[in-house]
Amino acid sequence: MIGLDEYGDGERYDQEYGAWEPDGPFYERLAHRYGGPVLELGCGTGRVALGLARQGFAVVGVEVAPAMLARARAKAGHFPVEWLEADCRVLGLGRRFCTVFMAANGFQHLVTAEDQIAAMEAVHRHLEPGGAFAFNARNPVTNEDARDVDEEYPWHSYRDGQGRAVRVSGYHRWSPETHTLVYTTIRRVGGAVDRRDLTLRFAPIPWLVASLRHVGFRAITVRAGFADEPFDEASSQDAVIVAEA
Ligand SMILES: C[S@@+](CC[C@H](N)C(=O)[O-])C[C@H]1O[C@@H](n2cnc3c(N)ncnc32)[C@H](O)[C@@H]1O
Repeated sequence: MIGLDEYGDGERYDQEYGAWEPDGPFYERLAHRYGGPVLELGCGTGRVALGLARQGFAVVGVEVAPAMLARARAKAGHFPVEWLEADCRVLGLGRRFCTVFMAANGFQHLVTAEDQIAAMEAVHRHLEPGGAFAFNARNPVTNEDARDVDEEYPWHSYRDGQGRAVRVSGYHRWSPETHTLVYTTIRRVGGAVDRRDLTLRFAPIPWLVASLRHVGFRAITVRAGFADEPFDEASSQDAVIVAEA
């Protein structure tokens, strides 16, 4: 199914991305506007879900990678978040939510048009009328990753939980026919080299909007980035999409 090898280590994810936070206030405003209960798809290690639960929202976190979910559960302790291991494309919880979202380009991990539409349909059947679904997606027209970079280049570095220097580098391959990008991430720790592929689908933003409408969403807004700026095809920031059921 989906090549999610990259999500086999929740602690490493938190070390690399746990401090990423430009979207936190956006999802807080969204939950305050549309209300709870809140459903996060691809909740990972709970980076956003836990913050919302701490604010008093009833939150369900759905995640397909067991290692990510185990880390979310450990971080939450006895804090009341409902963590569920499931694939959002075929979700059937039999209940509805007022706010549903997929943070940190999670939606792009659905790597075919069919998968993305299946997820939209699943979200739609889990939303109360008037509720909203939000997610961000890179704009393939302008995103600088949407091209071939065959030569390995440095991405970032950090110290892991044992104090060892980790150097992260990689390259990527772009397929314009399928709008998919395969990132190859290479991590070097001491003499060890770890190499993993992750595929993302950079769907054209107008296609996402048309598909949401086709699935039954009504009011759909697209903004550039999380600071509520106007979006157009030339926007280099992620499209931030909010679709009401
Ligand atoms: C970039 S991470 C984001 C994690 C978290 N939401 C955050 O903001 O830090 C994307 C997550 O989506 C999950 N994911 C990918 N495909 C999924 C699917 N079909 N169903 C549920 N989760 C999925 C991955 O396992 C990964 O944890």
